[in-house]
Amino acid sequence: MIRTTTDPRAAAEALLAGGLVLLPTETVYGLAARADDPAAVVRVYAAKGRPERHPVIVHLADPEAAIDPQSLGTWVSARPDFARALAAAFWPGPLTLVLPRSSRATDDITGGQDTVAVRVPAHPLAREVLQAMDDLDPEGAPHAVVAPSANRFGRVSSTTVQHALDELGELLDPERDVALDGGPCSVGLESTIVDCTGDAPRILRPGGVTAADVVETAGAMAALASSTTTPRVPGALPSHYAPQAHIAIAIDGEAAEAYADAAQEGGLDAERIALLAPASVPDLPGVMRLAAPATNEDYARGLYAALREADARGIEFIVVVPPPPDVEGIAAAILDRLRRAAAPRA
Ligand code: TXA
Ligand code: MG
Repeated sequence: MIRTTTDPRAAAEALLAGGLVLLPTETVYGLAARADDPAAVVRVYAAKGRPERHPVIVHLADPEAAIDPQSLGTWVSARPDFARALAAAFWPGPLTLVLPRSSRATDDITGGQDTVAVRVPAHPLAREVLQAMDDLDPEGAPHAVVAPSANRFGRVSSTTVQHALDELGELLDPERDVALDGGPCSVGLESTIVDCTGDAPRILRPGGVTAADVVETAGAMAALASSTTTPRVPGALPSHYAPQAHIAIAIDGEAAEAYADAAQEGGLDAERIALLAPASVPDLPGVMRLAAPATNEDYARGLYAALREADARGIEFIVVVPPPPDVEGIAAAILDRLRRAAAPRA
């Protein structure tokens, strides 16, 4: 098993030497590698079991340089005004922007597309790691890391270092790779991805930065696909973020009860059924409760841990009551992940 540390410098040293790091961010843990080290990037794909044509996100420290086509070592080649406004409003934070790539963003990172995804994370340790890389190796500054979510392909993302280790610890190299413990993630769902290659922003993956936030900042949103290319987003595959258990999405407490009853009538014993629902929904008699979040933010923060706990307990059937809709908030992102977790397996 790889070593766990709380020292960002140790993580920076590992990265500079071509190692991989289980990296805390405010959204979910990432499996990080130097973005300019193709051999390290290959190991990231191998550990995750991720198809090579699925692009990764380049994480940087400096919000301005991250999307400035003129900046030193830039990863992007163009930037519309609305992308600049989004970056200024939400970076550092749970937002990823897809932009035309520079020559530095090679096919191993972009999956062969002519665009690149960039993000400036807010987690203090992630920022300190990038800063320490620049301090330790000023010639390579500004450093950048790719960091897909720290989970095996198609599985639930990790929101604690232990979950990241459970997913990938055995697949990493104790000689070169380390886990950086930054505590539980504060958002709990992956970043909002906004395609900035068209005339107006287009949300490819909902997240903590909401559609209302994007419209408010960028002025408008592309109603239909405005991009001339069709980017690949594995989070957009039907079954993704999925636990072992089967998931049924109920609209309210009564529907949840009906599902649980039906499952028992179908032969499943109560110990194999669990409930995940907002605090306002009462327990189901004899059925384990995975979580009872009081707010939608709590729901998002605890979602992946709840799905993992279901697997750990051998739950076969999870009845999920989604969060109440909140036009301004994270409910849409939660519902998106729940639908994918519930989708039939390929
Ligand atoms: O919150 C996050 O974004 C986390 C943390 C660790 O930063 N990272 C993450 O990475 O979720 P990953 O690789 O699990 O998901 C990245 C998503 C994928 O769905 C990928 O297809 C999409 O970003 N993506 C990357 N580059 C893209 C591009 N050029 N065009 C469209 N989508 C892209
Ligand atoms: Mg992922």
